[in-house]
Amino acid sequence: MRFLDRPWVDRVMLAGFRWETRDALLSLTRGLESVPAPPKSRGGVLYVHIPFCEVLCPFCSFHRVRYEKDLATRYFEALRREIRHYKGAGFEFKSLYVGGGTPTVAPGELLSTLALVRELFGVKEISVESNPKDLTEGLLTELAAAGVDRLSVGVQSFDDRLLREMGRYGKYGSADVIQDRLRAALPHFATLNVDMIFNLPDQGRASLEHDLDVLLELGVNQTSFYPLMTTGETAAKMRRSMGLPDKWRVRPYYETILARLRPTFHASSAWCFSRGTGAIDEYFVESEDYVGTGSGAFSYLDGTLFATTFSLEEYIARVNARQSAITAERHLSPSERMKLSFLVRLFSGELDKRWVRERYGKRFERELWPVMQCYKLAGALVEDATSYRLTDRGLYFWVVMMSSYFESVNRFREQMRARANSENAEPLRADLCASGPFGSVVPAERLARFAHRRAAL
Ligand SMILES: C[S@@+](CC[C@H](N)C(=O)[O-])C[C@H]1O[C@@H](n2cnc3c(N)ncnc32)[C@H](O)[C@@H]1O
Ligand code: SF4
Repeated sequence: MRFLDRPWVDRVMLAGFRWETRDALLSLTRGLESVPAPPKSRGGVLYVHIPFCEVLCPFCSFHRVRYEKDLATRYFEALRREIRHYKGAGFEFKSLYVGGGTPTVAPGELLSTLALVRELFGVKEISVESNPKDLTEGLLTELAAAGVDRLSVGVQSFDDRLLREMGRYGKYGSADVIQDRLRAALPHFATLNVDMIFNLPDQGRASLEHDLDVLLELGVNQTSFYPLMTTGETAAKMRRSMGLPDKWRVRPYYETILARLRPTFHASSAWCFSRGTGAIDEYFVESEDYVGTGSGAFSYLDGTLFATTFSLEEYIARVNARQSAITAERHLSPSERMKLSFLVRLFSGELDKRWVRERYGKRFERELWPVMQCYKLAGALVEDATSYRLTDRGLYFWVVMMSSYFESVNRFREQMRARANSENAEPLRADLCASGPFGSVVPAERLARFAHRRAAL
């Protein structure tokens, strides 16, 4: 085994990443009175969060609740109102991502929301998430007519045994049914993405190879392969239902995925593989600035991170009172912004030097030089006159780091949900702060120490 392929190298690299990002906190505010001012770019990407699902999968830590018609009707009304608030504040968006939860759980509401966004903003690209069960011929036709270019379908596995363990077989269909649904959806959209999860606890190598065989045979033009991510609440649910994954298998399984999907697909991010061009699953990669609408959505505008409330009732009440739904925010220092750009831009495989210089001047390469040298020595990064690029080893490193990033985001979601659940007993207090994307809930005095240290830099 080559020196750099030893498992402890992954551990050291990940520990370094966690250390570097240990202080990234999102402070809980009393809530903004109105939506923030548009950034210099006027808006970039609009993300719309639909937090409803018919079945709550044990492994999932996205912000989602069980679908309930009355609540969903009130939620969608508030959502469209919130989108209008952004238009009123002067935002413009070039693309729209609708994620969840399961946006197609209430098709009529979804279509009205798409129509509104198209009417208000000249969006050029629309991406919508779905599950296999919702893909009826009628809805596929309506989504395509509503301007959806990219449909992303949550499949997770083509192994019936694993679908049963995940609690999806009964609701979303067997592997054969899912394949039929995907074949029917193919002609409707410029991009059909299939979401898969690898390193499921009971997934042997043969099962992974079978998933790859099916995908290559299906002829879809995009697939996202996420390593199974675990955090406190979901880990506990998974322990009771499907078990916990073996983290040491991520590297060999990811190498198998890379080897099998190429040359048919290219890596348009470390875990998204495409044939041709087209949007990818992570909207935050597409544009530096983005606005998240709906409950439990994140925004990033001119170096400030925001999160809206995770309580659906508070969300509806705030928007109806013409307030912003944002209840947490954090201003990033110039150094933190550069590190975030480094992580997120390279996730797409390549960092354009001209983009870096226009945005940060020479400071970026000066400040991140030691980090970049480490990645170069580790065989993760190569450089030419115009860009920095990830090697295959680098793609794997970025999968591990991004999973760690998402696991921290998920911890933040869990904490925000816990607060939302106890909201009636305890009103929002400005002296509490929650962490995110990387840390844990911390008392205000630690935030003060943190702010003091930052100010001293
Ligand atoms: C928010 S879901 C939307 C798709 C749709 N609700 C469905 O499940 O069919 C987006 C994708 O996130 C991925 N995902 C959810 N939880 C995950 C976890 N714990 N680890 C890795 N991927 C996960 C799944 O692949 C899922 O399809
Ligand atoms: S994986 Fe999809 S369907 Fe399952 S709970 Fe998460 S968002 Fe809902």
